[in-house]
Amino acid sequence: MRFFVDTADVAAIAELNDLGMVDGVTTNPSLILKSGRDILEVTKEICAIVSGPVSAEVVALKADDMIAEGRKLAAIAPNIAVKVPLTWDGLKTCKVLTGEGFMVNVTLCFSANQALLAAKAGATFISPFIGRLDDINLDGLEVISDIRQIYDNYGFDTQILAASVRSANHVTQCALIGADVVTAPPAVIKAMASHVLTDKGLEQFMSDWAKTGQKIL
Ligand code: G3P
Repeated sequence: MRFFVDTADVAAIAELNDLGMVDGVTTNPSLILKSGRDILEVTKEICAIVSGPVSAEVVALKADDMIAEGRKLAAIAPNIAVKVPLTWDGLKTCKVLTGEGFMVNVTLCFSANQALLAAKAGATFISPFIGRLDDINLDGLEVISDIRQIYDNYGFDTQILAASVRSANHVTQCALIGADVVTAPPAVIKAMASHVLTDKGLEQFMSDWAKTGQKIL
């Protein structure tokens, strides 16, 4: 399973990338706002750090404008994936930009039918939002599972990029279902390393080691 990091925080991306944890990056307008950076500048910086796909999202709502924005974003670096919303205009944009050889990530997906349309439009990635479905008392993981089955039934190449990932358990469940990629905030990726028994065991080892009176260095 590939890990994308869901942030526009360059320092956080660099730290995880140095550990080999980053196969790509996803950003969106909210994350650009949070970074306080200019979208073109920060995206270029991220692309210089990470060799895998870096999603940069269009903000126009009409297909012609989305296509123009997508071409401009794609010109930042060869590893840009243009992110478009799952609207009819977004699907048109997806078809045109993938036809021009660009990677396209179709985002704001909340149903298997939407994912089916994105695959038909040639999307490189589909981004179903797990957490936001859970927020309204629906089952985000069930949608991931449905999409996996549908894509496998028909051999679609579109990669399932599980998004709106809020917990380490979401990552486990996505890996079990067979999502191709998970994009998660840095804090969720770091939380995957935590276990209460690791902390407890380490505490015991440190206590016993101190009693030996020994040193390794
Ligand atoms: O990748 C999409 C993600 O940023 C949305 O996450 O937590 O805002 O629903 P969230």
